[in-house]
Amino acid sequence: MTHLLQNYGSRIPLTFTHGEDVYLYDQTGKQYLDFTSGIGVMNLGYSFEAGKAAVKAQVDALAHLSNLYENPLQEDVAALLDFDGQYQAFFANSGTEANEAALKLVRLIKPQQTILSFVDGFHGRTFGAMSATMQDKIQNGFAPLLPGFVKAIYNDVESLAAAVTADTGAIIVEIVQGEGGVTPITADFAAALKAYQAQGILLIVDEVQTGNGRTGKLFAFEHFGLLPDIITSAKGLGNGLPVGVMLAKRDYAPYFSAGKHGSTFGGNPLAMASAKAVLNVLTSADFLAEVRDKADFLSHALQQHLSGKASVKEIRQLGLTVGIALSDEYQVAQVLAEARKHGLLVLSAGHNVIRLLPPLVMTKAQLTEGVELLEAIL
Ligand SMILES: Cc1ncc(COP(=O)(O)O)c(C=O)c1O
Repeated sequence: MTHLLQNYGSRIPLTFTHGEDVYLYDQTGKQYLDFTSGIGVMNLGYSFEAGKAAVKAQVDALAHLSNLYENPLQEDVAALLDFDGQYQAFFANSGTEANEAALKLVRLIKPQQTILSFVDGFHGRTFGAMSATMQDKIQNGFAPLLPGFVKAIYNDVESLAAAVTADTGAIIVEIVQGEGGVTPITADFAAALKAYQAQGILLIVDEVQTGNGRTGKLFAFEHFGLLPDIITSAKGLGNGLPVGVMLAKRDYAPYFSAGKHGSTFGGNPLAMASAKAVLNVLTSADFLAEVRDKADFLSHALQQHLSGKASVKEIRQLGLTVGIALSDEYQVAQVLAEARKHGLLVLSAGHNVIRLLPPLVMTKAQLTEGVELLEAIL
């Protein structure tokens, strides 16, 4: 008998007792090489000692502080996130909350205007973020959704052009559609978004999964010459502590005036201590260059070991985010189960896609080990 609601379906029957470096260990002591990072969260691995030490010290000093008072740690983290001196931060606790903040801000800046988002995108499970998540399997059963959301097809410039009207206030987009199947944005589509932004449509980039160094840049939009009006981020920002953030250009600060939004836990000292430790690493010299180097290495390894296999339809990648689309005869659930038997953890995404989100600190030898295991399975 379980006391838990079954919204996650039947869980994988594995209980992990601890993590070390880029490995998880189950009750029997079996080791698993983790190519999931807890779905893009444990980007600095399970032995991020600076983060652990910062959180432990913060627990002793002051675990919680309400947002009624000054919070220097929030200032520090916001400053580290403000990569070009144009953004101010609102802290939340998750990706969906970061997106709710963004959607509320847009409503204030562009009253009564619509928000455009893309088929197979994913922005979260709360009502606003879900209304922007154009996937039937996420939205079904929850009508009425929030009004004012319009959809277009991702990476389809004509569909985008047909969907944009004089009422369009904002566009929310992922640089890689992660949950939807690991589809990176095309350069053409990014350029089209930039052109609409130049016409005054607000550009919200959801970096919840792609941010925090995952693609070899602090934010994935940097690969495409975009400068969003609003950025949302979460997942890897706390390396295990729940942190979400919305960054808005300073010009929009007056719209989020006193009382317009808030959170009890958002920007909590524990979360901020962890996020500061994470960002100190991400912004340190050479770290992101190393991630890009590892991403190139992984790309070669995937080509060498997996491309050309009958089971593999396509390999898509941006940085250390990889999607391996399987041929129709192969079932992703079976591949994941087989991988677990071999001591390898990988994810699924979209329709029959294996998703790899290895920790950014994974070594080339460990990356090779994972790819070779996949080769044996596929
Ligand atoms: C791009 C993107 N946005 C938003 C979310 C929602 O984040 P959370 O589960 O922290 O609410 C996710 C989660 O997978 C995501 O990948």
